[in-house]
Amino acid sequence: MTSREPSYAPETVLVDAARPDRSQGAAVNPPIVLSSTFIGSGDIGDAKYAYGRFGTPSWEPFEEALAELEHAKLPGLVYGSGLAAIASVLSLIPRGGTLLMPRHSYQGSLQAAEELAERCEFALVTVDIDDTDSVIAALDEVRSTPAAARSKAADAPDLAAASAGSADDSTTASAMLWIESPTNPMLEVADVPGLLSAARERGILGVVDNTFATPLLQTPLDHGADIVVHSVTKYLAGHSDVVLGAAVTSDENLHARLLADRAIRGAIAGPFEVWLALRGLRTLSVRMDRAQSNAAEIAARLNAHPDVAEVRYPGLADDPGHARAAEQMNGFGAIVAFCVDDAQKATAIAEAVDLWTPATSLGGVESLIERRRRHASEPESVPEGLLRLSVGIEHVDDLWNDLKAAIEG
Ligand SMILES: Cc1ncc(COP(=O)(O)O)c(C=O)c1O
Repeated sequence: MTSREPSYAPETVLVDAARPDRSQGAAVNPPIVLSSTFIGSGDIGDAKYAYGRFGTPSWEPFEEALAELEHAKLPGLVYGSGLAAIASVLSLIPRGGTLLMPRHSYQGSLQAAEELAERCEFALVTVDIDDTDSVIAALDEVRSTPAAARSKAADAPDLAAASAGSADDSTTASAMLWIESPTNPMLEVADVPGLLSAARERGILGVVDNTFATPLLQTPLDHGADIVVHSVTKYLAGHSDVVLGAAVTSDENLHARLLADRAIRGAIAGPFEVWLALRGLRTLSVRMDRAQSNAAEIAARLNAHPDVAEVRYPGLADDPGHARAAEQMNGFGAIVAFCVDDAQKATAIAEAVDLWTPATSLGGVESLIERRRRHASEPESVPEGLLRLSVGIEHVDDLWNDLKAAIEG
C-alpha cells in the first residue's frame, strides 16, 4: 500500500489515491481487468492472483484508496454489497458469543443479525446507541455473564473467559459492539470514541458502520474501532448505479479471517462495479460539501414549518445529537428525517414531490425521499409518519420549493 510522506488532506487523497505508476504514455486511471482466472502452475497459495474469487487487480485500487481514507494499515476488502460485508463481519461472532447492536440500526443489518444469531447461536442484544450509560451497562453485563448463559444454545461453549480478555487479541473476543452513527433512519449520534474505548477495555470487538458519515466526517479506526464497514452503494460510489460494500481493518488476524470468509462464501464484487465506485469516490468531497449544505438548509426550513412535527438532523442546534456530532465529526452529513402527523400524510408527501425521487437508498447525487415504515421490517419505534431525506446536490431552492409544495399539498 502507498504510504505518503508528507500525508495529503482527505480531499486530495480522494483524487490522488491508487493511481497507476507514472510513465510516459501510461493510463491515468487503473484498468478494469476482466479475467476470472490467472496464469500459474506452482503452489496456488503463493500466487498473487490465481482465481477471481480470491482476488483480482480490479479490486485493489478501490481497496487501497478506502484504506487510506479510513486510516487503515491494511487494504480494505470490497464485497458484492454492504450487507455482504456486514454478514462477513457478523460471521466473526462465535457460537455462544454476543452481539450488541443499535435498536435503530439499518433494518437490513438488524435482520441479518437476527437471522445469524438464531442460526449461529449467539445472543443479540439491542441497545439505544445514543444512551452511553445504558450501552456501557450492557457491555458490563456481557463481560460479567458467562457466554453459555447468554446464548440460547444449551451446549454453547463457555467463552466468558475469552470475552474478559482484551480486544487487542481479536482471535479470542467473543462479543461485538456494533455502532452505527448517525443511525438510519433516526439520526441518533453515538459517543463513538467513548463506546469504542469502553468496548476495548472489556475485550469486546468494536465495529462501526460508517456509511452515513463516510471517512470524510469520521474515521472510527482512529478511535479504536476494530473494523469499519460501508455500504459503498451510498456516498462512496455516490451515483445510485452500483450495489457494493466494504470492510476495513488494521488488524492482521481479522483481515485474514474476513478475506477467507469472502473467498469461501463468494460474496465478491464485479470488476466494473468496483471501477465505478472508485470513479465516484474521486468526487466525494465536493458532493458531500454541497449535499451537507443543502441538508442543513432543508432541515432548518423544515424545522420552521408549521406542518412538520419534528426534524432529526444532527446539524440543528436543538437536535439531541448536535453537541456530540459537533465534537466528534467533521460535519453533520446529508441525511435528514422529519415527521408529519401520520403514515397517510407522509405517503402523500412522498407521492406529491416532483423533483425529489420517491425511492429507498441514499447517498447519490439526486435527492431521495422515503417513508421508512413502508418496510415491514422497520422497527415499530420508528414513527409511522417519518420521512427520510437523502439530500442531493441540486439547487437548494428547487429542492425546498418542491418539498414545501408537497407538504402543503
Ligand atoms: C447504514 C447502512 N448500512 C448498510 C446498508 C446495506 O448496504 P447495501 O444495500 O449496499 O447492501 C445500508 C443500506 O441501506 C445502510 O443504510
